Amino acid sequence: PPRPDLDLASLVRTIPDFPKPGIQFRDITTLIGDAAGFSESVRRLSARAATYRPDLIVAVEARGFLFGAAMATAMGLGVVPVRKAGKLPGVTIGVDYELEYGVDRLELHEGAVLPGHRVILVDDLLATGGTILATTALMRSVGAEVAAALFVIDLPDLGGSQRLAAAGLTCETLIA
Ligand code: PRP
Ligand code: HPA
Repeated sequence: PPRPDLDLASLVRTIPDFPKPGIQFRDITTLIGDAAGFSESVRRLSARAATYRPDLIVAVEARGFLFGAAMATAMGLGVVPVRKAGKLPGVTIGVDYELEYGVDRLELHEGAVLPGHRVILVDDLLATGGTILATTALMRSVGAEVAAALFVIDLPDLGGSQRLAAAGLTCETLIA
């Protein structure tokens, strides 16, 4: 059953100095390990995603897979993984991006998202916005429309939501 009263933030654990000194790591494993916390997170994300009437859910490795896959089944949609370099077996399209704590490359299977598709991007957390901007670049490069980007957690001090807004991207988060 829905639990609109449930405080999701209280189920997220903070681990200091991971993976580097100075990073306060917001750990969603405690949220998803809680049955009510996980189902309520997915219910809230899916309810928001449904308002955009998407064709597909696009989920970002790795933690985005957990939420995006659950949302896709709840919404009766397929899910497309955007993965770190070298993980997808087929022909890929790639983009380089910067993380709060490093540099990486994201890839998408060619043909997984088609021109004109309306997609919802899903990830666990919005920090600098680099990951979702890179994913948006991938979507736009194949002619898809990003209806919105959804996150469980926003770290507002890192400015991600401003960067996404400047790129013309609508974003919604469950917790700040
Ligand atoms: C984390 C997080 C987001 C991204 C947010 O993933 O899950 O994907 O960083 O940061 P940004 O807004 O500054 O781009 P990470 O790359 O640590 O990978 P993981 O999910 O595979 O652990
Ligand atoms: N917590 C969890 N994941 C993250 C963070 C963080 O502070 N920054 C980038 N990804």
